[in-house]
Amino acid sequence: MSSMWGQTLKISLFGESHGPGIGVVIDGLPSGHRLDEEAIRQFMLRRAPGRSPWSTRRQESDETEILSGLYGGRTTGAPLAALIRNTDARSADYGDLVNKPRPGHADLAGSFRYQGFQDPRGGGHFSGRLTAPMTFAGALCRQILLEKGLWIAAHVYEIAGIPDEPFNPVDPDEKRLAALAAKPFPVLDDAAGARMIEAVEKARLSADSVGGVIETIIAGLPAGLGDPIFEGLESRLSSLVLGIPAVKGIEFGSGFSSARMTGSIHNDTPVIVDDKIRFRTNHSGGIQGGISNGMPVVFRIAVKPTPSIGQEQQTINLSEMNEEQLIIKGRHDPCIVPRAVPVAEAAAAIFALDLMLGAGFFRTHEPSGF
Ligand SMILES: Cc1cc2nc3c(=O)[nH]c(=O)nc-3n(C[C@H](O)[C@H](O)[C@H](O)COP(=O)(O)O)c2cc1C
Repeated sequence: MSSMWGQTLKISLFGESHGPGIGVVIDGLPSGHRLDEEAIRQFMLRRAPGRSPWSTRRQESDETEILSGLYGGRTTGAPLAALIRNTDARSADYGDLVNKPRPGHADLAGSFRYQGFQDPRGGGHFSGRLTAPMTFAGALCRQILLEKGLWIAAHVYEIAGIPDEPFNPVDPDEKRLAALAAKPFPVLDDAAGARMIEAVEKARLSADSVGGVIETIIAGLPAGLGDPIFEGLESRLSSLVLGIPAVKGIEFGSGFSSARMTGSIHNDTPVIVDDKIRFRTNHSGGIQGGISNGMPVVFRIAVKPTPSIGQEQQTINLSEMNEEQLIIKGRHDPCIVPRAVPVAEAAAAIFALDLMLGAGFFRTHEPSGF
């Protein structure tokens, strides 16, 4: 099993949902950046479980212990290792999952891959809990990016088919979007948010779950970053974001609706604004030919309904090789989407910092040589 990502900045996630702890090693951070640990804690609280009706009742503070790579409050440039201890694991709820895999979860596919030796408790290393250290890494990257004027925001774009107001992809209002982070349910249109919460509650009461879409924006990314074909920005960002458990799709800019547009509508017209090259529209989502064009990078991800539901479902018994009924115990989100919003922001930040570091943006001095 390997859960590593990145080129210049590399992250490596470790741990299991019901083991002693989970964490991340971040390699390639620039030195000298003062971390605001309280801001990181606040960012992680947006993802932490047990804080809202649409979240699992598992209570985890997700307090993060930084073991290395930080001295006097500043990054040293050495690998930064962070550990989050699991404090509210109820492993007894998951005793039989190796034999009776949960439909829609990774239990069966994990058994195919690891011959049943994988830790099955709460999904083990496949658990959505692994997004906690990823969120930590993203919160840290985000702070470093802010120094270069890059900012990132995300919101619940849709749940159970109920839409929020979309982001303005050409001229986003930084203040308005920054305010989303303080909302327990991050939407622009609170009335739409209330209808979404109702749909989640309805699913919870019928022991079911619902999915949705998250929209994320990265503003301030300089033009000209990336490479064509396989190392394009879309490919690189997708390889990270599609690694988030339960994410099943991604689109950039106008995405799949581009397929129903004409060229005369879809083409983003370049214009000169204050002596700078901009585009009148942003159907490309800030990326053309795999390379940033200076417009905000806008992407949306599809999040499937939570696989673990309370209803009785059919599965198979692997040791008996017959079909059986399954009632899942344990505590589960009726909808993953709201908690995955900061995870999407974190992924965007890790992606953007890797890109910026690769392009040499954080070099504070030239190597002096010998
Ligand atoms: C923040 C977050 C929370 C999640 N919570 C749950 C959960 O409570 N129950 C569950 O069955 N799946 C949960 N998942 C999703 C599973 O981890 C995921 O569906 C599973 O690992 C299979 O991976 P896949 O859906 O990408 O194929 C969560 C995912 C995320 C990102």
